[in-house]
Amino acid sequence: MDLDEIRLGVNIDHVATIRNARGTNYPDPLRAAQIVKEAGGDGITAHLREDRRHIVDQDIINLKKQNTLPLNLEMAVTDEMQKIALDILPNAICLVPEKREERTTEGGLDVSNSTSKLRSFIEPIKQKNIRVSLFIEPCEKQINAAKRIGADIIELHTGQFCELFEKKDESHIEVSKDLEKAAKYAHSLNLEVHAGHGLTVDSVGHISKIPEIKELNIGHAIISDSIFLGLRGAIDLMKQKIKESRL
Ligand code: PXP
Repeated sequence: MDLDEIRLGVNIDHVATIRNARGTNYPDPLRAAQIVKEAGGDGITAHLREDRRHIVDQDIINLKKQNTLPLNLEMAVTDEMQKIALDILPNAICLVPEKREERTTEGGLDVSNSTSKLRSFIEPIKQKNIRVSLFIEPCEKQINAAKRIGADIIELHTGQFCELFEKKDESHIEVSKDLEKAAKYAHSLNLEVHAGHGLTVDSVGHISKIPEIKELNIGHAIISDSIFLGLRGAIDLMKQKIKESRL
């Protein structure tokens, strides 16, 4: 298996988080999407949450119309989100569990206990040639259920692994083995395997080395790193503008 064949989907939700904190129209997620493309990213991921706390409907419309990278739209399993997917026609949707009070997506989707609901939810979406991904824990039961309902992709939730890794808890090694096993199993069933949540430059290598994984979706750490990779330039630019005004 070709280890170079791994795509990076960049989740730009937190560009919108910063914008919404002030109610301004900047920073614009669409501009971020253009930079992702210039920088060699392979796709744009955005989560339209029910409470619209970061990405809002107009962002999704703009991203679909003006961004030229594939759009992976993360969403909860609701009638409203199904309608939006059918209107916008993203390249892929990734179904996630969603609780209003959570800070970010906690846990994977329980596919095995909602197969008939999920099957009918994805049917019209698949008919529009939108690829369907399910965000799940690394567990055979959920992988089997994903296969049964006709998903194209599973995205393995790396949240638990990352949490343990950050805490320097050695059990992160066990969890990374579970992720590896799950990736191999899903691949053997002809499911495309993605992974994401909580990955940072320090932890990513443990996951990206798994050959069956075809795509990683990473957001918070990339947007966070961009502050320190870009702060110097932003200060230089502001100082230059101030100086110019006083010439
Ligand atoms: N994949 C899925 C399904 C997610 O819900 C999220 C968070 O929105 C991510 C990946 C990205 O997680 P992070 O922002 O922690 O990199």
